[in-house]
Amino acid sequence: MEKNIKWTKNNIKRTNYKECIEFLNEGEVSKAKSFHESFDQYTVTPLADLSNLANHIGLGGIYLKDESYRFGLNAFKVLGGSYAMGKYLASKLNRDISKLGYKELTSPEVKKELGDITFATATDGNHGRGVAWTANKLNQKAVVYMPKGSSITRLENIIAEGAEASITEVNYDDAVRIATDYANENNGVVIQDTAWEGYEEIPTWIMQGYGTMALESIEQLKNNKIDRPTHIFLQAGVGSLAGAVQGVFASIYGDDCPTTVIVESNLADCLYQSAKAGKMKYVGGEMQTIMAGLACGEPNTIGWEVLKNHSAAFVSCPDWVAANGMRILGCPIKGDNQVVSGESGAVTAGLLFEVMTNPEYAQMKEDLKLDENSKVLLFSTEGDTDPEVYKEIVWQGAHTK
Ligand SMILES: Cc1ncc(COP(=O)(O)O)c(C=O)c1O
Repeated sequence: MEKNIKWTKNNIKRTNYKECIEFLNEGEVSKAKSFHESFDQYTVTPLADLSNLANHIGLGGIYLKDESYRFGLNAFKVLGGSYAMGKYLASKLNRDISKLGYKELTSPEVKKELGDITFATATDGNHGRGVAWTANKLNQKAVVYMPKGSSITRLENIIAEGAEASITEVNYDDAVRIATDYANENNGVVIQDTAWEGYEEIPTWIMQGYGTMALESIEQLKNNKIDRPTHIFLQAGVGSLAGAVQGVFASIYGDDCPTTVIVESNLADCLYQSAKAGKMKYVGGEMQTIMAGLACGEPNTIGWEVLKNHSAAFVSCPDWVAANGMRILGCPIKGDNQVVSGESGAVTAGLLFEVMTNPEYAQMKEDLKLDENSKVLLFSTEGDTDPEVYKEIVWQGAHTK
């Protein structure tokens, strides 16, 4: 199995770089943030300050958004599903989302007006839990399909939200097709966190929902007297999350946008392969990486458009990089905040550490201009969403280099 980190600069010629981020402008994304703020469960997730780690590895600062605190669900994903479901219901009710908050949407009157709706989706865990949680609050039904090899704990967490959920015999991309067929045959609505030709509106709303996290981080950095990070490292499965955060930063900072690096599992590195080929590429097979949230082989068409126009580099990482990141964040240098970060949450921290400390990656460090003046923003997108696997990795040292 490949043990090395691979990377490529983004050499793709920019084409529609302004148009492709228009839907992520500050005004649009602020609507999503206001929607989330109307939830009883809403709080701004912490921005961990890892100054001692930064100093130790030769950087000016590391700031990490800890999404394990999001709505009590241990991952960022609910931001997307909930906003898309809110937007969908607003359109059904012929109302503006800006005037339709959580209290009203979850009221018996709105339920009566809407009747019964079934939301269908596929997930490695986090997205499905967010959709199930939102459907539960709306008193509606969710049907969730998971790829082969999915974690039983993650399945149980979805079922605990009242959803009908099962683990299939296929990979993530095929599970998406099963969810779509189910919705088509049962008059349901697909709430999928990826786009393809002909299915773009809901994923657009999902990406706007993820924008809440980006807006929060900008405010938090400003409170720390940091006008802008110099670099952002973003993990990617299909690239909705990365595209959303990249798009928000690119629309707010324009030509002064931070250098953004897209990070994938080497068993599901469709964006890295696409960047190398200069056109969209798929990866197939079972993709049995520990980074379950990143085990997706078919890029989000809208997300890819954003990333190919705006991101600086694409990186493909073996599992040990994520495992190392989990250990570094879980056992911080004294004085830094501790972060319980899961496999898909920690890969960017693991990568940053390796690039800064391993001479084999000196070229990458130089090309990306990572040095003592750099202030790097990371997103730990999940906590210990499978606590047993978390302990195996952090306590017992599973998946070392
Ligand atoms: C924890 C976590 N991080 C990152 C991602 C990647 O998001 P995307 O598929 O939008 O690239 C996922 C996707 O499920 C996830 O669960």
